[in-house]
Amino acid sequence: MRLSVNVDHFATLREARRSNEPEPVLAALLAEQAGADGIVCHIRGDRRHIKERDLRLFRQVIKTKLNIEMAATEEMKKIALEIKPDVVSLVPEREEELTTEGGLDVLSNITYLRTHIQELQNAGIKISIFVDPNLKQIDACKTVGVDLIEINTGKYADSKVEKERNKAIQEIQTAARYAKNLGLEAHAGHGLDYKNIRPIVEIPEITELSIGFSIVARAAIVGIEMAVREMISLID
Ligand code: PXP
Repeated sequence: MRLSVNVDHFATLREARRSNEPEPVLAALLAEQAGADGIVCHIRGDRRHIKERDLRLFRQVIKTKLNIEMAATEEMKKIALEIKPDVVSLVPEREEELTTEGGLDVLSNITYLRTHIQELQNAGIKISIFVDPNLKQIDACKTVGVDLIEINTGKYADSKVEKERNKAIQEIQTAARYAKNLGLEAHAGHGLDYKNIRPIVEIPEITELSIGFSIVARAAIVGIEMAVREMISLID
């Protein structure tokens, strides 16, 4: 199972003082050096953390895989076509949200998404959709022609009651198996940390995890390389 590290919150810290440090690009390079299989970032409509300048630099220096999360808007499509990341992950976005709140509603937007995705794929970009572990939504992902899906683990990560957690794990496992049977690679992410990652690691159909906040929070104390290495050792 691979690990992609989301470096958004190095940029959040930089923007807390509208400063030029910490440098997210340096964090990304050190994460790669520590064994990360890919770097993820989310360019938001409000540019609260990652900005175009970061994307251009990431594109130049990242040697593993650059995955940019973005809303399925015309503005973002233009940016993707200029930067040409390896992967674009389409996510829903609400201005007031603290973080992405759920999977994209693919079912209600099939016609729009199919064209949007095709244009990005024509430029050689692979497309992922962040989706809840809901089989109808996964069917819709197949219909719109994605290359892979990222299953939202947020409900699992947020659940405090064991019964709820077990149900959430079951749903993620079923969704990953379902996606694999449809020929879609299944990634997973959101809210994963050093304590809750284990049951997700045990799902064989999941090939990659996308983890941000918990790694950056730990990096603030132990450094990014150590934080990435510790997460990789839990995955392995
Ligand atoms: N996957 C997606 C689609 C996300 O939007 C995020 C948060 O930016 C993550 C994974 C990583 O979540 P976390 O920061 O909670 O690890």
